[in-house]
Amino acid sequence: MSTLTDERTTELIEQFQQHFGGAPTYVSRGAGRVNLIGEHTDYNDGFVLPVALKRDVRFVLRPRADRQVRLFSVEFGESGAFDLDNLRYIPEQLWINYIQGMAQSLEQEGIRLTGIDAVFSGNVPRASGLSSSAALEIASAHAFLAAAGQTGVLSGPRIAQLAQRAENHFVGVNCGIMDQFISELGRENHALLIDCRSLEYTLVPMPEDAALVIGNTRASRSLASSAYNERRAECEQGVALLQPVLPGIRALRDVTSAQLEAHRALLPENVYLRCRHVVSENERVLQTVAALQAGDLVRVGQLMNASHDSLRDDYLVSSPALDAMVGAMRSVEGCYGARLTGAGFGGCAVALVKPGYEQAMADAIFEHYPKATNIWPEVYMTKAADGAGVEQLLLA
Ligand code: GLA
Repeated sequence: MSTLTDERTTELIEQFQQHFGGAPTYVSRGAGRVNLIGEHTDYNDGFVLPVALKRDVRFVLRPRADRQVRLFSVEFGESGAFDLDNLRYIPEQLWINYIQGMAQSLEQEGIRLTGIDAVFSGNVPRASGLSSSAALEIASAHAFLAAAGQTGVLSGPRIAQLAQRAENHFVGVNCGIMDQFISELGRENHALLIDCRSLEYTLVPMPEDAALVIGNTRASRSLASSAYNERRAECEQGVALLQPVLPGIRALRDVTSAQLEAHRALLPENVYLRCRHVVSENERVLQTVAALQAGDLVRVGQLMNASHDSLRDDYLVSSPALDAMVGAMRSVEGCYGARLTGAGFGGCAVALVKPGYEQAMADAIFEHYPKATNIWPEVYMTKAADGAGVEQLLLA
């Protein structure tokens, strides 16, 4: 079934014609995501439970005979170009580095790429905790693979790993694997339980009586990357301090709550609290999967609430804006639970809601959130969608 030949693709095809002349031959997509639960666990070898969004980054493209890449970004209204034989970080044009990084990662995997002409656009809000970067990486991965005639040669988990490598090594952001993995492998009406150590994954059906509402705080996330790296370092410190008494552990994933409590005295207070979040969050993810499978949405909501509280009080990655958003969401009848989603410090919160109460929740957010923050939010009502895709475009 063709899913990518819709209005957005038609518009991109028109833009392509204007910029490059003629018609593109492929369309590719990488999905945005919202994480239901399992925050700051992926880089601790733990568990996450995200869903892919309909919102995506999309490329239309045509292979070239040489190794030049020519791009036009619709949102930035900007052209960019690079040579596959001369990849170098371009500080003045941040978006192009995700695409260059992806090209480098694929070639390091032994895939010989060909140049492309491409127009792309995205409707995943940027820098909002919904993984617009991962969507860009994954969409460009499929664009390059299609142009090189290599669609299907890499597994989904491998593509996700290569995209993570692009972000870690070329872009210079030390993220975990969650965003790229769900952007690639998400499935309509399902959440994905990902074991971030083994990269095994399980599709978890979303119950029909559960809807998702995302509230975008539109608050700045200026401290996000330095604080993210600090949290990672604190987790590593925790593992290093616990290893002498728990020699079998490689990551916080291997530590139980009982073990953490037993050895609390070995850890500085800040490190103990960060570890307590990660260890309890891993447990909450597995409990959430069990509750979803049992159709116990009240329990899922309680676990989401507990996740937010732990992120706020132990991991210190919430913010007044996120707390106000979550408060507005929880005030609505029909809300099972609400929490910040993504790295935190700003960006979005997600709520699990009884179907039929989505609009009431949006109304409550627009009523309460601006009063608390002086910021006008955005609200997205959403469902779990398919992850990445690529299709050949038929010539008209
Ligand atoms: C960002 C990172 C992910 C993950 C989350 C926090 O989205 O890119 O890898 O660590 O933060 O759960």
